[in-house]
Order: sequence, then structure tokens, then C-alpha cells
Amino acid sequence: MASAPSRVLVIGSTGYFGKFMVDASIRLGHPTFALVRESTQASDPEKAKLIESFKSRGVNLVFGDVYDKAKLVATLKQVDIVICTLSHRSPHLYEDEVMLILAIKEAGNIKRYIPSEFGFDVERLDIMEPAKSLLGVKARVRQRIREEGVPYTIVCGALAANWYFLPRIGQAGVSGPPTDKVYIVGDGNTKVSLVGEEDTATYTIKAADDPRTLNKIMYLRPPGCVITHNEMVDLWEKKTGKKFERIYIPEPEVIKKIEEGPPDVRGSYMIAHAGFLKGQTMIDIDTSFGVEASELYPEVKYASIDELLDRSL
Ligand SMILES: NC(=O)c1ccc[n+]([C@@H]2O[C@H](COP(=O)([O-])OP(=O)(O)OC[C@H]3O[C@@H](n4cnc5c(N)ncnc54)[C@H](OP(=O)(O)O)[C@@H]3O)[C@@H](O)[C@H]2O)c1
Repeated sequence: MASAPSRVLVIGSTGYFGKFMVDASIRLGHPTFALVRESTQASDPEKAKLIESFKSRGVNLVFGDVYDKAKLVATLKQVDIVICTLSHRSPHLYEDEVMLILAIKEAGNIKRYIPSEFGFDVERLDIMEPAKSLLGVKARVRQRIREEGVPYTIVCGALAANWYFLPRIGQAGVSGPPTDKVYIVGDGNTKVSLVGEEDTATYTIKAADDPRTLNKIMYLRPPGCVITHNEMVDLWEKKTGKKFERIYIPEPEVIKKIEEGPPDVRGSYMIAHAGFLKGQTMIDIDTSFGVEASELYPEVKYASIDELLDRSL
């Protein structure tokens, strides 16, 4: 007899990544639980609508907070897998995740914890400050998970395609796609992995009860999602039938923008510098602890960059 599908709890379900995790969990047939803050449902009409849509799709809603330990432990006892999508923008992500890790230890039944990652491999990342410290918190969380002996899978190695760079055709510090000029950091020939959020969530749910990913890092690098900035602009030119003047920004100028630019521009240049110039999504995968998602799950029909760009037309 086939075993029952694992029960999945998403912490951070009303956030940017969390809703994709809830969707993928339901899509792949898992009984799905979502921890939701009651105050959010009452105060945010958009999120209240999202919560209603969870309800109508059969999600088991649990009103709580990672700081309500008794409720958290009681909820954990009803599930097998925990996916965390708490925000790295929170000044207390470490403390928030430690609350979860300790509750998981107390509950004693959780088969896999997926920490809040879904970006660069933070233990091997070369990125400028303050991004280095901000993302360094995730490396501390990894260390704590290992110290506490909680079974885990880390999902990382790509930029979230639609979150920033794809709708801007790879540019940093701008509000939309190019009109006449396109700005490219470096020479535009560095490979970068950009994976659609739906696909990241699908791979995450598949990995969450797979023995091959236990205590491993799963990198997101489907071949059709790996591209250089120049190749992305080529594709965009073909799709729009327009030619764009390519303005290449040399590294010292990029660094100056990061150090001296307005705050809203600096963050995107830091990530572009690491991803599009220094190739930090394309580090060598150490097979003693690393696996690649599309190799493990060739059956997933992921959206390539070519297909994802069609959605920006
Ligand atoms: N690689 C990339 O390009 C990329 C892009 C974006 C995000 N990410 C990563 O994805 C992860 C998730 O980020 P995100 O942008 O999805 O975050 P987000 O949109 O800010 O969502 C955070 C979620 O956590 C919930 N939350 C916060 N504090 C909580 C608490 N004490 N108890 C229970 N729930 C709480 C929030 O609930 P409320 O709705 O109640 O506030 C929300 O649902 C992060 O690790 C981030 O670095 C990566």
C-alpha cells in the first residue's frame, strides 16, 4: 500500500515566497497547513484575501506566531515537514528561526525542516556589505540547525526570477524593462541562475520528503534557467523586435554605486554585482553535500528564462 503523503506546514505563508510554497504543496497532493498571524488577517485586506483562498483550497489554517511556543509545538505535532519562509529583511530572522528549531526539537516528530533560504549559498557567498551581514544570518541558522540535529534540506543557488531581475531584463537600479538603453554590470557574459518562484516551490516540496536530499544542500540550476545578461537581452530583443543600446558598467563603477548610491538602488546593485558579475549563483557544487534540483527531478516541467520572459511582454 502506498504511504500517505507527508503533511506540510508553511511558516510565512502570507509572504512573497510562502504563498508559492502553499500552492505547490497543495498541487503535489500534500495535506497542507499554514501558520497565519491573526493580526495580519484583520489588518491587511490583500493578505486576508490570500488567506481566504487558502481556506477555499482546503489548507488547514492555524492562527499563531512563531513566538507562541505552545501553539507552535501543538501544530508541529500534526505535520511531518516544515517549510520556513520568514523574511531575511526582519532584524530578528535568526531568533525567529531558532524559536522554530527549538519547537521542532520539542515536538520530536518532524522529518524535515526547510529553512528560509531560496537565494545564494550563504556559506560560500562573496557579496559586498551590508548584504554580506544580512545574508550571513542564514549561515548562522544553518549552523544552529546542524548543532541541534534537526533533519534539514537547504534550497538555494538561484535568484528568484520574477522578484526583481527578470521584469527589468536583468538590470539593477531601474523600475522596469529597458526602453532605449539597457544597463549591464560587467561585460554581461557571466552565467546566472534565475528560477521562477513556482518552480522553486515545486522543487522544494519534492525535496522535502526525499531521502536523497536529507541534510543536503539542493542547488537550483535547471539548464534553461541559466543565462548571461547579454543572452537575456538578445532574447528580449528578439521577442520585442527592438534593439537596445547596451551600456556596460565596469566593476569599479558598480562598486561606487553600491557604496555611494541612494539606498533603494544599492541593494539591487549588491545582488547584481554578486550574481551577474561575480557568478555567485554558479559556484561549483560539492557533491559530498550538494545536489542539483533538475537532475533529481527531471520530470518537473520548469519554466525556462525564454518562457518566463514571455510573461513580461
Ligand atoms: N533569491 C531571491 O531573489 C529572493 C527573493 C525574495 C525572497 N527570498 C528569500 O525568501 C525568504 C522569504 O522571504 P519573503 O520575501 O517571502 O518574506 P516576506 O514576504 O517578508 O514574508 C515573511 C512571512 O513571514 C511571516 N512572519 C513574520 N514574522 C512572523 C512571526 N513572528 N510568526 C509567524 N509568521 C511570521 C509574515 O507574516 P505576516 O504576513 O503576518 O507579516 C510573512 O508571511 C527569505 O529567506 C528571502 O531571503 C529570496
